[in-house]
Amino acid sequence: MSKKIIITGGAGFIGSHVVRLFVTKYPHYDIINLDSLTYAGNLHNLKDIENSKNYRFIKGDITNEDFINELFNEIRPDGVIHLAAESHVDRSIKDPLAFAKTNILGTMILLNAFKNLWDNNWENKLFYHISTDEVYGTLGEDGLFTEDTSYSPNSPYSASKASSDHFVRAYGETYDLPYVISNCSNNYGSFQFPEKLIPLFINNIINNKPLPVYGDGNYTRDWLYVIDHAIAIDLIFHEGATTETYNIGGFNEWKNIDLVKLLCQQMDEKLEREKGTSEQLITYVKDRPGHDLRYAIDASKINKYLGWKPSVTFEEGLSKTIDWYMVNSEWLENVNSSAYKDYYENQYE
Ligand code: NAD
Ligand code: TYD
Repeated sequence: MSKKIIITGGAGFIGSHVVRLFVTKYPHYDIINLDSLTYAGNLHNLKDIENSKNYRFIKGDITNEDFINELFNEIRPDGVIHLAAESHVDRSIKDPLAFAKTNILGTMILLNAFKNLWDNNWENKLFYHISTDEVYGTLGEDGLFTEDTSYSPNSPYSASKASSDHFVRAYGETYDLPYVISNCSNNYGSFQFPEKLIPLFINNIINNKPLPVYGDGNYTRDWLYVIDHAIAIDLIFHEGATTETYNIGGFNEWKNIDLVKLLCQQMDEKLEREKGTSEQLITYVKDRPGHDLRYAIDASKINKYLGWKPSVTFEEGLSKTIDWYMVNSEWLENVNSSAYKDYYENQYE
C-alpha cells in the first residue's frame, strides 16, 4: 500500500538514517523530509538519496502554525514520524526556552494539524513520536527503565521531551488520534553532530585536543548504534500497536570513562599512534548541572512483541563509527563552523 509520510527532523542525525531507510526500502511511499535546518540539520547527510523519486525535502519550522497547517492540507500525510527537536542537554541548560518552543509547542502544532486534517477519519493513519529514555530521569546503581517507569525528567531537554510525550498521549485519549511513542537510549554512529560525547571525542582525538570528561566520569549510559534505532523505528511504525510505548535500548551500559578509554584504544590503533597516546588527552572538567547518574533500558517489550534486537556489538559499532568520521573529514570540517566554534569555546572555555 502506498503512503505519504512526513518525517520531521530528517536532516538531523537519527532522522537522516530513518529517511534513508524508508526511501530505499519503500520505493512506493512518498517520503517528505520536513526540517528547518538548524545548526544540527545538514542536507549533506542525505546526498546519496536526495534525487530519489520518492523523496522530497521541505524546509520549514514546526513551530510555524500557519505553515504547518497549510503543508498538512497540501500533502495530506497518512503518517508522521516526528524526530525534529532541540536535542542537546548542555544547550538546554543554556537556553531552556528554545527547547520548550520546538519540543513542546512544535509537537503540539504537528498534533493539531494532524487532528484537524483527518477529523476523526483515522483509518491507516499514525502519528509516531520519537522520544528519549531521559524522560524517566535517573537510575541509581541498579534497575532498568521499563515502559511503566514514571516520568521524572531532570534537565530542560528531558522535561521538554516528557511534556511532548504527554501531549501525544493526551491527543490520543482526547481526540482518538492514533499514536505510538518510542523512548530510546543514547545513539551513536555516522552523521552525529560533534557536540555529543562520541563524535566530539573522536573529533578531538583526531585534532589532539583535550577530552573534557564531566565530573568523575562515572556516569552510565546505554549506547545503541543509530542504524539499529532506525530499524526499530521502521518496525514500530509498521507493526507497533497504537497507543503503546516501546522502550529501545542497546543492552549495552558503559560508564563514560570506560567508554572513553575504549575509544582512545581503538583510535590509537586506527591512527597508528603509540598505545596510550589518546588517553593522555583525558581532562576532567566541571560537572554538568543536574547530571543524571545512570540510564539503562529494559528493551524486552520490543524484543518480545516485534522481535527486535541490536544487530552489532558496541565494539563493532564504535569501530565503524570511528572509520566513518576518519573517512568523512570534510563533513566534520564543514560542521565545525564558526557558530559551532563559539558554542564550543563558551561551553568548555
Ligand atoms: P539532531 O539534533 O541531530 O537533529 C534534530 C533535527 O531537527 C535537525 O535536523 C534540526 O534541523 C531539526 N529541527 C530542530 N528544530 C526544528 C524545528 N523547529 N522545525 C523543524 N526542524 C527542526 O537530533 P537527533 O539526535 O537526531 O534526535 C532526533 C530525535 O530523537 C529527537 O526528537 C531526540 O529527542 C530523539 N532521541 C535522540 C537520541 C540521541 O541519542 N541522539 C536518543 C533518543 C531519542
Ligand atoms: P551526551 O552525548 O551529551 O548525551 P546525554 O547527555 O543525552 O546522555 O553525553 C553523554 C554522557 O557523556 C553524559 O553523561 C555527559 C557526558 N559528557 C562528558 O563527560 N563530556 C562532554 O563533553 C559531553 C558532551 C558529554
